Amino acid sequence: MRSPRNDGRAVVEICRRMYERGYVVATEGNVSVRLRSGEILVTATRVRKREIATGDLVRLTPGGVRVAGSPRPSSEAALHTLIYSKRSDINAVVHAHPPCCSAFAVAGKRLRVGAIPEVLVEFGDIPLVPFAVPGTGKLPKAITPHLMKSNFFLLANHGVVSCAADLEEAYDLVERAEHAARILLLAESLGGAGNLSPRDRRELRHIRQTRTDGQRHGVRQR
Ligand code: 13P
Repeated sequence: MRSPRNDGRAVVEICRRMYERGYVVATEGNVSVRLRSGEILVTATRVRKREIATGDLVRLTPGGVRVAGSPRPSSEAALHTLIYSKRSDINAVVHAHPPCCSAFAVAGKRLRVGAIPEVLVEFGDIPLVPFAVPGTGKLPKAITPHLMKSNFFLLANHGVVSCAADLEEAYDLVERAEHAARILLLAESLGGAGNLSPRDRRELRHIRQTRTDGQRHGVRQR
């Protein structure tokens, strides 16, 4: 496994990958990392993700103040800095509009991953954050009650936010969730996803708990 890279080049690479996968179009979405110094590197506002370069990244102090000379930061920068301030285990945040996840979000429907064993183990329950106008202080406020429960959030009528110890992991969560959302949408056309038994779900939640405890003690499972 490659060692995690939380730097400007990694941000650019993830933005372009998200654009290529269709998780964002045009200037949508934003990505950030927390640097070793504690400063935050976030994408500038309204930058095209297909052609983003390291010059389109903005350096912020841990308190969210722009370091002189940088372009204007993402309109969601306050959401990113809030996550870093509340979660010392997080060093990367991704916000995107992947179509299948966003279809659930726009419909105001929870992403019920409990029917897919590996996805249940990975995510547990995915919070559906009530709608808040994008780019305003209302969004950090709306996500706050959910922040300690998950690393992945569906934003009603908007998209997703994913966070992790490193950027590749934060991206992986988006990719996994989008794949699961697609499977669930396809299952709808076949009569809907079947339910696992309560016993199977309990066993899967136990596996998730064991894995999470291992990660808290510094054991990487993946
Ligand atoms: P920014 O260009 O300001 O980052 O906004 C993009 C976006 O997706 C807002 O939710």
